[in-house]
Amino acid sequence: MEKNKKIPSSTNNPYLPFFASIREVGQQTSTVKHFLVDLPKENYPEKFIPGQFYQLSIPGVGEAPISVSDYDPINHTLLFCIAKTGVVTSQIHTLQKGDYLGLRGPFGNGFPMDTFRGKNIVLVAGGIGLVPLRSVVEDYFRNQDQYGELEILFGARNSQEIIYREEMKQWRLKKKTTCKITIDKPEKGWDGNVGFVCNLVDKSYCDCSEVLFHHTSPDQTNTVILVVGPPVMFQSILNNLSTIHFPDDLVYVSLENHMKCGIGKCGHCNCGGKYVCQDGPIFSWKELKTLEKEY
Ligand SMILES: Cc1cc2nc3c(=O)[nH]c(=O)nc-3n(C[C@H](O)[C@H](O)[C@H](O)COP(=O)(O)OP(=O)(O)OC[C@H]3O[C@@H](n4cnc5c(N)ncnc54)[C@H](O)[C@@H]3O)c2cc1C
Ligand code: FES
Repeated sequence: MEKNKKIPSSTNNPYLPFFASIREVGQQTSTVKHFLVDLPKENYPEKFIPGQFYQLSIPGVGEAPISVSDYDPINHTLLFCIAKTGVVTSQIHTLQKGDYLGLRGPFGNGFPMDTFRGKNIVLVAGGIGLVPLRSVVEDYFRNQDQYGELEILFGARNSQEIIYREEMKQWRLKKKTTCKITIDKPEKGWDGNVGFVCNLVDKSYCDCSEVLFHHTSPDQTNTVILVVGPPVMFQSILNNLSTIHFPDDLVYVSLENHMKCGIGKCGHCNCGGKYVCQDGPIFSWKELKTLEKEY
């Protein structure tokens, strides 16, 4: 049975969702699915910046902010990757190809990709934190000649929780690209890295970041580091980066405060004097130091 069947409508009211049909659904892990949706022509974004998010909704159930994994500017599709954590996300997980998803967005500032031109990009992701960073990976591969190297450092709880498995195999084969994965605890059949992802930005760890520690003449000012994961994870990463005196204006973190309106009106996502939905969700480490720890 088709669920959430709605006629896509055009609207300029930022509180009203438009409806996009689902082209593909795929299981990433036991609790995470990806959804590829076709945008109606009247809702093509004027501009999409990696790190931005949409409010996804099911009428009568609710809304949840979800990062864009990829926006394909040729086919006008959006890719989302969603963990089943509660009311809205559980309902979204029941949707199938041909069903409709309510969408508002894109919202948020996104990563300042223009300032990354010519620089190496190191991505550090914990679990589902790889979702917004995938849109950075896609932008990097579409414009690779404009950037330096790409390094993806990814930590999953266990080998079953690794998302984008097939994509990572492909990313590894690309030029100027390194990809390192670690899982929290030893596991039968796993011969890769074990331990938290913060180890990969610790120079005493044998398989630590190539870009940060193994380059013959590492130039910190020519590298940006983007970190996405739960606060406990990004705090450990930031601690490790402070021990090597990495510049705080070249590190970016995505915050995931609870949200309602997504457009700076309701105050739900307030963090210090900032609204995470509008001033963020991306903040530099330098900015983060000035915010109250309400994340
Ligand atoms: C900017 C942004 C981008 C996000 N991107 C993604 C994404 O790409 N994929 C994805 O799976 N999730 C993402 N999330 C998290 C996602 O929005 C929440 O998991 C979702 O709102 C839960 O909605 P629900 O109705 O299913 O759960 P609820 O029934 O509302 O809650 C279930 C549990 O999750 C907790 N919860 C709800 N919202 C959050 C939150 N923001 N942070 C931590 N815990 C929360 C609740 O307190 C409760 O314990 C993002 C959040 C933000 C703010
Ligand atoms: S979610 Fe309403 S102000 Fe940010």
